[in-house]
Amino acid sequence: MKVNLLIIASLILLSSVAADSESEGGGRTIEWQVLTKQNFSSQIHLHPHLLLMVTVPWSGESRFLMKELTRAVAYKQEKLGSLKLMLMYRSNERMLADAIDAREGITFLYYHHSVSYKYQGRLRAQNILSSINSVVSLLPEELPLRPLNTPEDLKSVSCIN
Ligand SMILES: *[C@@H]1O[C@H](CO)[C@@H](O)[C@H](O)[C@H]1NC(C)=O
Repeated sequence: MKVNLLIIASLILLSSVAADSESEGGGRTIEWQVLTKQNFSSQIHLHPHLLLMVTVPWSGESRFLMKELTRAVAYKQEKLGSLKLMLMYRSNERMLADAIDAREGITFLYYHHSVSYKYQGRLRAQNILSSINSVVSLLPEELPLRPLNTPEDLKSVSCIN
């Protein structure tokens, strides 16, 4: 009996690991990559659309959000296909996390051609992605970018859906 339970438990574990690394929706493998202070700037400059989650390794909520976001990005591939998903551990990169104003809890920052927008809304995949969509539609690629700086601007970005 005990042995059976163990086998079932390890099967469940295995299948959730497999689901994490599985290629979803039409081929592109969507996976989260870790950023450190060594490669933070180069990655931000390399990818024009990048969503960065700053969290701690032991956060169950952030693991849940990662799964939700992976699924949602895969589902909306035609619109969000080029969005890179990255994460950084505040516990390892304290100075950098402070510098980008990700001091507590789970922080999401969207980097649009290296300009950052801090997400201030509810921590739900759909809300995060629609906020990114509104930033993208407010900032056509052809126009020179005007970074939003004031808290009011940022709030309005997170609220438009
Ligand atoms: C950044 O560097 C870390 C540690 O060197 C590495 O684990 C990670 O995969 C790198 N991230 C990317 C996106 O290359």
